[in-house]
Amino acid sequence: MKTIFSGIQPTGSVTLGNYIGAMKQFVDLQHDYDCYFCIVDQHAITVPQDRLQLRKSIRSLAALYLAIGIDPEKATLFVQSEVPAHAQAGWMLQCVAYIGELERMTQFKDKSTGKEAVSAGLLTYPPLMAADILLYKTDIVPVGEDQKQHLELTRDLAERFNKKYNDIFTIPEVSIPKVGARVMSLADPLKKMSKSDPNLKSFITLLDEPKTIEKKIKSAVTDSEGIVKFDKENKPGVSNLLSIYSILSGESIDDLEKKYEGKGYGDFKSDTAASVIEVLKPIQDKYHALLESEELDHILDRGAERANAAANKMIKKMENAMGLGRKRR
Ligand code: TYM
Repeated sequence: MKTIFSGIQPTGSVTLGNYIGAMKQFVDLQHDYDCYFCIVDQHAITVPQDRLQLRKSIRSLAALYLAIGIDPEKATLFVQSEVPAHAQAGWMLQCVAYIGELERMTQFKDKSTGKEAVSAGLLTYPPLMAADILLYKTDIVPVGEDQKQHLELTRDLAERFNKKYNDIFTIPEVSIPKVGARVMSLADPLKKMSKSDPNLKSFITLLDEPKTIEKKIKSAVTDSEGIVKFDKENKPGVSNLLSIYSILSGESIDDLEKKYEGKGYGDFKSDTAASVIEVLKPIQDKYHALLESEELDHILDRGAERANAAANKMIKKMENAMGLGRKRR
């Protein structure tokens, strides 16, 4: 069976972008693949975090994974820092990566430009992400478009390691959804929807109340044409809403364009909001029940156990390949 790995940072709220671009795919994939889904808390600390808030976000993200339909009997759900192999492999891969290629990562440039104190971790984040993936002999990594460059680097590092030391890593393929790979900000549809955006109206979180969702979508930036038509270049705002609506309702973009022909944006926006609310309501109900349950801790304990067992095998292979430690009998 082929292996899937993906991760999400436990930083604040999970957005509709995270859901559509990545998480929604996870639910279908778990039936046909050996899946590892990770809460990447070590990635989160590359920028300053409040410790209590971080702890809360880790639990919250775990509950959300389960609430969207991840089945812990089928997939391994775990917290990155509870599997020390990630940091160990991350270090070894840092020693394989070049500073120049890390400095060229667009996410590093975006997050560091103009900042005074940038952590070294922000620069060496991609080798840690490569470690996450390579430890599990991952075949496929489902992510949104913004992670494509990190995946290319992961493949480069794996190939370099295989060539330089020993052929131990599987070279992973990236899987990006055809529609929804880049959900845009509601306030500025030329920018990616992001949980770190200071404008709270620019993103929808999976835990937003129905009223909030309605308000945010009603105030989403569109244009003055009043025509519901998919045209990313000239109508980015309307196209973004059409993508969201289409993915969540299962209706094709063509059908939606026909449905709102000659009707302006009013009904279109309320129906888009209704489709978001319909998908999120059952997720939210399950989330609240799970959050306080002991079951959540049992699931994460079991997940860490399974992940540790798999990852430690690869660590041994990496150390042997690089000549670390003493030869064990
Ligand atoms: P993160 O936490 O920023 O985002 C989690 C997932 O959500 C996708 N995503 C989006 N997709 C569509 N539209 C958007 N506006 C949008 N915003 C976010 C991301 O592409 C991602 O798939 N580096 C990763 C976490 C990570 C990881 C890994 C992923 C660490 N190790 C190993 C895969 C494999 C990150 O920061 O994602």
